[in-house]
Amino acid sequence: MTKLSIFSSALALALGMTAQAQDARTPHLQKQGSATQLIVAGKPFLILGGELHNSSSSNIDYMRPVWRRMTAMNFNTVLAGVSWELVEPEEGKYDFRLVDGLIESARRTNLKLVFLWFGSWKNGMSSYIPVWVKKDYKRFPRVRLHDGSTPEVLSPLGPASWAADAKAFGALLRHIKQFDATENTVLMIQVENEVGVLGDSRDRSDPANAAFAKEVPKPLLENLAQHKAALYPDLKARWEAAGAKTSGTWEQVFGASPETDEIFMAWNYALYLDKVAAAGKADYALPMFANTWLSNPDNKPGNWPSGGPQPQVLDIWRAAAPHLDFLSPDIYQPNFEEWCRRYTHAGNPLFIPEMRREADGARNVFYAIGQRDAIGTSPFAVDSMEDVKQAPLGKSYEVLAQLAPVILKHQGKGEMAGFLLDKAHPSVKTQLGGYELEISLDSIFGSNSELGYGLIIATGPDEFTGAGSGFRVAFTAKTPGPRLVGIGTIDEASYFNGAWVPGRRLNGDENDQGQHWRFSPRDLGIERCTVYRYE
Ligand code: DGJ
Repeated sequence: MTKLSIFSSALALALGMTAQAQDARTPHLQKQGSATQLIVAGKPFLILGGELHNSSSSNIDYMRPVWRRMTAMNFNTVLAGVSWELVEPEEGKYDFRLVDGLIESARRTNLKLVFLWFGSWKNGMSSYIPVWVKKDYKRFPRVRLHDGSTPEVLSPLGPASWAADAKAFGALLRHIKQFDATENTVLMIQVENEVGVLGDSRDRSDPANAAFAKEVPKPLLENLAQHKAALYPDLKARWEAAGAKTSGTWEQVFGASPETDEIFMAWNYALYLDKVAAAGKADYALPMFANTWLSNPDNKPGNWPSGGPQPQVLDIWRAAAPHLDFLSPDIYQPNFEEWCRRYTHAGNPLFIPEMRREADGARNVFYAIGQRDAIGTSPFAVDSMEDVKQAPLGKSYEVLAQLAPVILKHQGKGEMAGFLLDKAHPSVKTQLGGYELEISLDSIFGSNSELGYGLIIATGPDEFTGAGSGFRVAFTAKTPGPRLVGIGTIDEASYFNGAWVPGRRLNGDENDQGQHWRFSPRDLGIERCTVYRYE
């Protein structure tokens, strides 16, 4: 590897392009203020996605009824697995009929696709590798765990494995380019799925032991030194606690611990995925990313896949894998806001390929999009959701789909806020459009809101557009002028193709007799509010 830069992708994005030279028609990432947007057919695109069960996309007939269910829930994008075993069932013989069928079906229902490359790893394991790879365990070596066992998991230190995976992935991207470069149904690619060693903090195969005994590669340490002040706090603290050395073995530089094993594995998985991503981008430079099975503070690396792009090793991944445009969390854990924050470290754009599909997920999408400028969200297992017409997620996406042009216009400019309220966190304050907004849980006609959620956008001078449920807003002026703030008007609103269509004028009980901008806990709606100043 030549010169590495932790922030190479971020720098390229700041210049308005990804790490790869772009054909302007290829879906790509572009900066708008502090946000990173996905550009499709020349326009920003907000992914309102859902990920399928792992085996659903392996059969076109099985999928036939699924597409309509997706549009009934107002999804605009489906995340679907494409596996190495089905694409290259015999070495060197590719079969893309399934890929083509998925793309054609998505087009018929006006849906976009993000493909998940189930290549060398899926949830840490290697169950999706072709049988010819599984059987040839000498050419494609396995990890070895502390007890000497060699589970069905490819070692990331096997050069033949990454070469074979990269070759298949390159062929896939070449094919997608031929089939889809004009229509752009396929928007992005996830490279592998939740990589990392399970059952041990690192690979203990002979090649892994040899690499672990060597010095930490110079480019990595130079990179860390260059970006020392901005490193993720855990990594910085670990390095400094061991003396902030600029050379030495992994244990000399980071100390002897399972966390150092994780850093070593992160470097090796990231190098592997970078080679796979580079092979794909050489043919078709779609945005690419890796996803993460998140860690748990009560456990150690190895209980979660050790070496995956966890927050504490994001800097290692960024240094080793410049061909990955971002790193993503699969958020099933309760502290959703905190995980979102962690995954915006060092300008990493937030995209959530997996999260809960239930009512909490339907609320959380407002936070990810409103507060963290997410490229998109995608709850998991959406094809088995019952009663799709009533699903809270479908209702959230209906509102967000209407507002998408407004959201995209205001991303990255400090003009939008998203929030989640509950009994423990009943109120937040945020500054937008020259005002401080105090957003609190609300109740209306005896229907108490225990949960509030939504987003607010400063859409014009003294004008705000909001969406959500169960909250009220009080305004305080933050610019020179008359001291007090009154509510001018509040209107229910719908958006059709980005144009605002007013509904009821909300006054009286609905705005607390002119005192507050309110969103009933019984509905999920869009409203527009104007304010004025007086003494
Ligand atoms: C996370 C994985 O990435 C998905 O493919 C799926 O296995 C889910 N876990 C199951 O909860």
